[in-house]
Amino acid sequence: MGTRTKIIAGNWKMNTSLADAHVLAAGIRNGVEHIERVETVVCPPSIWLTEIAHEYIPKRAHVHLKLGAQNMYFEESGAYTGEISPLMVKEVAEYVILGHSERTHIFREDLDLIAHKLDSAFDHKLLPILCVGEDNPGDVGQKSTVKQLHRLTSQLDEYDLRQLVVAYEPVWAIGTGKAATPDYAQEVMALLRQEVSPATRILYGGSVNEENAKGFLELPDCDGMLIGGTSLKLKPFLTICQFADDVAQKQGHTSLHT
Ligand code: PGA
Repeated sequence: MGTRTKIIAGNWKMNTSLADAHVLAAGIRNGVEHIERVETVVCPPSIWLTEIAHEYIPKRAHVHLKLGAQNMYFEESGAYTGEISPLMVKEVAEYVILGHSERTHIFREDLDLIAHKLDSAFDHKLLPILCVGEDNPGDVGQKSTVKQLHRLTSQLDEYDLRQLVVAYEPVWAIGTGKAATPDYAQEVMALLRQEVSPATRILYGGSVNEENAKGFLELPDCDGMLIGGTSLKLKPFLTICQFADDVAQKQGHTSLHT
């Protein structure tokens, strides 16, 4: 399907000073001005979201540039020290990353909690970037990734499935410098696609850089990338946005600006 708008999402994780965040956000805003067919999604630490929204990426101001949170709790408000709510995210951002493996592994989030967050994101008209991925490479791992997605999405209706963005992030590839091969990623993403809608966008994430990005972007079931480390480096990040735009053009996508 050639009509799924590609996404390049940058997950800054727990990085950047406020000054760094300004420089990076300004650089991205200026650098993607001429990118026509790709949605770039910037996901800074939550403490910088409001400032970046106001200065560079106001909600709904751009069709090709959006802001996302890296996480949220599912309740709207209350005694949940340290958390941010969907109502808060919604004031400034359009996307929210959910179920990232650093949340499941370090902060022990389980699939039930992620499922609650997913429902809450849809209830609040936020666009979730739902992460799934296996701990170890191989067939068994691939099957566990498909199972995760099945458990999280089997109750969703078609409308929500169309809004959903899935990030396939093999845990063994995150931050290790050892990305999956494009063939391996395609195999899993084709299986994941069977669990969702033909309109669902599926991203690859895990040690993406300027050298390997193109190989993924050209895959039939890959609609973009969720990028960690490389999203903190302006030039390589913009180069990947440009690759995605080139691939989208080749695949016949039209400009988002028209
Ligand atoms: P990485 O992180 O690109 O640094 O491997 C990806 C992610 O965790 O989303």
